[in-house]
Amino acid sequence: MCGIIGVASLRYNVASIIKSGLEKLEYRGYDSVGIASIASNTILIKKGKGKIHEVETRYGLSRVPGSIAVGHTRWATHGAPSDVNAHPHADCTGRVAVVHNGIIENYLELKEKLTNLGHVFKSETDTEVLAHLIEEFLKELKPFEAFRKAISMIRGSYAFAVLISNEPEKIFFARKDSPLVIGVGEGMNFIASDIPAFLEHTRRVIVVHDGELGYITPVEIYLENSKGERINYLERIIVVDWTPDMARKEGYPHFMIKEIHEQPRAIRDTIRGIDENYEKAVELMLDSEKIFVTAAGTSYHASLVFSLIMSKLAGKLVIPFISSEYLSYANSADENSLLIAVSQSGETIDTLMALREFKKRGARIIALSNIIGSAIPRESTLAIYTRAGPEIGVAATKTFTTQVTALTWLAINFSEKRGAINQIEAKSLYKVLRDIPEKTERIISMYEAWARSLGRDFANKNNAYYLGRGISLPIAMEGALKMKEIAYIHAEAYPAGESKHGPIALIEENFPVIFVSIEDRLERRLLGNIEEMKARGAYTIGVVPENSILISKLDNYVAMPRISEIFLPILSIIPLQLLAYYTAVSRGYDPDKPRNLAKTVTVE
Ligand code: G6P
Repeated sequence: MCGIIGVASLRYNVASIIKSGLEKLEYRGYDSVGIASIASNTILIKKGKGKIHEVETRYGLSRVPGSIAVGHTRWATHGAPSDVNAHPHADCTGRVAVVHNGIIENYLELKEKLTNLGHVFKSETDTEVLAHLIEEFLKELKPFEAFRKAISMIRGSYAFAVLISNEPEKIFFARKDSPLVIGVGEGMNFIASDIPAFLEHTRRVIVVHDGELGYITPVEIYLENSKGERINYLERIIVVDWTPDMARKEGYPHFMIKEIHEQPRAIRDTIRGIDENYEKAVELMLDSEKIFVTAAGTSYHASLVFSLIMSKLAGKLVIPFISSEYLSYANSADENSLLIAVSQSGETIDTLMALREFKKRGARIIALSNIIGSAIPRESTLAIYTRAGPEIGVAATKTFTTQVTALTWLAINFSEKRGAINQIEAKSLYKVLRDIPEKTERIISMYEAWARSLGRDFANKNNAYYLGRGISLPIAMEGALKMKEIAYIHAEAYPAGESKHGPIALIEENFPVIFVSIEDRLERRLLGNIEEMKARGAYTIGVVPENSILISKLDNYVAMPRISEIFLPILSIIPLQLLAYYTAVSRGYDPDKPRNLAKTVTVE
């Protein structure tokens, strides 16, 4: 996830407008920043690693001359944060400059072809291929045709803004699966990832749809669909009445709910981002006698799901532990051990300490993180990444589901390579995985109203139990953690079978008990647990598959689709995230900033 902006103006200098637009987009990424402008038919680029104010101090971004310019704030996906990997990226001749948000899936293939044609690449990014492709086609075509042809060769997700010095008054743009909006001004037009980037200058907006492309000039907008047909953009203009803060949240009242809604996109990007390092991770797993997985907080729940799927699918024991408990596990580590350290921020000190201790004993380390180049990936043997984009809400949502997605892929691939499942079985599992983003979207739209209404009832509760068995248990734990973190309700997760050894003593009339049950073979056993709770007056709520035998016993339920159970952890947490969110809101709390909690914990 990155932020892009382009401004085409009749005024002389737009660099300061680009800079202030980038500041509004910094929530989309902040590891490097850059600007490209056209002045006297020449492209000028200033860019560097660091936050906007740091790069401004070093290079004077806002002093770059030119009335047509593009800017970028980066959240690294391919290539670590560095000056050279910062956008914009240029072709060999310096006549093309590109900013991009998204992931080009076929960039290695394109890079090889372009290198064979003599193009020299400066960065490790996927984005640079577009600059060279355009350069190649400019040999025969006019700028817009060259741009259109280059776009047709890109597979993956993108929002592009491109300068081509032969047509110095235009900013070319294209969109697929990454957000892009046009701002319609007076003598000044904009293109950006998000409305806040230009809200100070215009409230008239056109949302660019998937497959559309075109260009803006200071006085003209050209938009066409994927068939090359011109679109009458005037019919598409909307006038927004958002405040800048609302716009940053895309109209959602809080980042947490925005991030819950971003999960289909985040999961899709994570699946698209599965690269050769994931394959290498599986090789390391196959080559290790003992596998451990460690993490803190929500990431620990993702690790538990992984350990259970590995046991279920591959028959391989993976030992999970909470990272702050590392001293009790490190003694069993040696050079035949592998530690998988899961941390969205890549900076959690407990996970870092566990990693260092295991490393000291000769163990190899795989990091799974959402932040390229953070401490945990840097100190690991191998790093793999989720592509959730920056998560601002303190309570983790999209980073959890993307972690589970990445770990589920590892488990499937490991099982296939180890021969625990055959190729046909593996293929059908990958297919289901690819459909998960769409299913996630459906679950969000089906259960948001349910969560809003139940959240109002929960707002009056002081306690709740979350019970589950097997792979449902980490989801119960994660659901309870969300409720505790943001709604400040004492929510306790327990293995359902164990609940009669103590917790049941607290049950009285209308005590809420949430049962997560996504494994068929454990369903019958849960039946008994539900009866036990109901007999004592509990209000029972279920997260269960469609047509589950448990439905008739429950007071309230949400139904998950009947797909392979290993994918249901990703879907079944969603109603529980929504429930925690709406409960917190009903109680009048700000879910983005829960008291006493930090997004990243860097003290032991
Ligand atoms: C803190 C955050 C949690 C997070 C945990 C681990 O407690 O509030 O949301 O799950 O740290 O963070 P990590 O960045 O290592 O995944």
